[in-house]
Amino acid sequence: MDIFTYRGFPLCESEKLDNFNLPNYAPTSEEVKKVIEVEGSFTLHKFEVFKMDWDSYIKKANIGLGRQGRATVIATDIRAMGEPILSSQFGEEAMDDLFQRFKAVVLDHMEAEKCEHINLVISLTKKGTYTIQKNRRKMVEIEKVLHMNGGDGNTSYAINSLLQRTVASMVKPILEEGIEQLYITLLPECLKMADLGCSTGFNTLSVVSDVLEIIGTKSKMLNLPPPSLQAFLNDLPGNDFNTIFRSLPSFYTKLENEKGSSFGHCFITTVAGSFYVRLFPSNSLHFVHSSYVLMWLSMTSPPAVVDAYLKQFEKDFTMFLKCRAEELVPGGRMVLTILGSIKSDDPLSIWEVVGLKLNDMVLEGLIESEKLDNFNLPWFAPTSEEVKKVIEVEGSFTLHKCEVFKMDWDSYIKKANIGLERQGRAAKIATDLRAVGEPILSSQFGEEAMDDLFQRFKAVVLDHMEAEKCEHINLVISLTKKG
Ligand SMILES: C[S@@+](CC[C@H](N)C(=O)[O-])C[C@H]1O[C@@H](n2cnc3c(N)ncnc32)[C@H](O)[C@@H]1O
Repeated sequence: MDIFTYRGFPLCESEKLDNFNLPNYAPTSEEVKKVIEVEGSFTLHKFEVFKMDWDSYIKKANIGLGRQGRATVIATDIRAMGEPILSSQFGEEAMDDLFQRFKAVVLDHMEAEKCEHINLVISLTKKGTYTIQKNRRKMVEIEKVLHMNGGDGNTSYAINSLLQRTVASMVKPILEEGIEQLYITLLPECLKMADLGCSTGFNTLSVVSDVLEIIGTKSKMLNLPPPSLQAFLNDLPGNDFNTIFRSLPSFYTKLENEKGSSFGHCFITTVAGSFYVRLFPSNSLHFVHSSYVLMWLSMTSPPAVVDAYLKQFEKDFTMFLKCRAEELVPGGRMVLTILGSIKSDDPLSIWEVVGLKLNDMVLEGLIESEKLDNFNLPWFAPTSEEVKKVIEVEGSFTLHKCEVFKMDWDSYIKKANIGLERQGRAAKIATDLRAVGEPILSSQFGEEAMDDLFQRFKAVVLDHMEAEKCEHINLVISLTKKG
């Protein structure tokens, strides 16, 4: 018998009692099992039933209470649960009397009717979770080793990211257009943006100051107070966030000196985690930026054939769009720059040259062939058609622009005009690529193989580029969240 079934309500109006239904139902184990089976999403592992006398929890606590005391505790406990709903029907003034009466008889009643609490304990697993967990494990393995070289030393990404900086400056007009339209449409008091895959170095904070400048200038033109900017800098947990933290005070001082009070406040926060899952609350962002990041896949699965990579890219990019669609407000924008290719089985990616040199090292017995066979770089350079198809099928975003910028592998160095000859340019490309690839490559082939690998790479990279007419293909995509 359920403890609520015992009702001692003789003094209340009978109508009140007739109209009262306690919203409480104690199912049998068969009833519970049937619902689980019919619903179908869970596998039932354990179903246990624990019976206990109404007062056995008090006896077990061994607090030395006699029969009277135990009845008082039961009455107080039941009152703590039931008083709000009972008093809303029968009045607060009836409660003392009710629970006095209840206390006076509850243990006699329990003994006479052999009443017990019947506790059902159910242990369930969501079906299909094994695959998700297996995939998640693969993602976590990649997340652990995928990061750029940290710090600000000679091999760091911070000082070897001129290529990415050059591309960002080429993309700036598209960034400006996207941010301006977003600002005019939504006029946020505080624009909330995220830079996904921010890494560490000059590029990390320059996108923040670019956005601040664009909204500051636009608000001035519109005679509006400058909006503040909240920027979330995201990367994988292995990223060197400490270098970002250390650079913040001088960044804020520089902003203050250069832009002064004519620009809004800027608040910078870091967020560690993969953007292939949710990172932000729903409807919380106005703008998402990501540059030179989305060709890094969440995982790879052998066999390492183009088809498998394309499928993984489609899966990952779809998940990326779905997560951002949740996080962006309607009308929110994204500007994404991706290193792409002209055709999906393009053999001309710069990583191919690294692959060729790793192969040479295997042939010379410097690297075990098994290590190379087991290695799949989680990297895929999609064509603009492949990107557009995912955006269309996923359906949450309107595509405004998809532009393609091509550049020779060394043209960013020529453009920077730092007077480097052919030899120097090859060395710079090798150092820059090493800053990106060293953590993941050395986790597979060993730190000791890295000098040799990048020496070999440097020796052939420009010949290879010229012979094969290789170019970096930069895809720049500007999107608005529908709705
Ligand atoms: C080449 S860097 C680009 C950094 C910066 N956006 C720039 O333009 O200089 C790529 C960055 O993407 C990050 N990244 C790769 N996959 C990621 C993921 N799933 N979630 C978050 N960051 C990721 C890497 O750790 C790396 O720091």
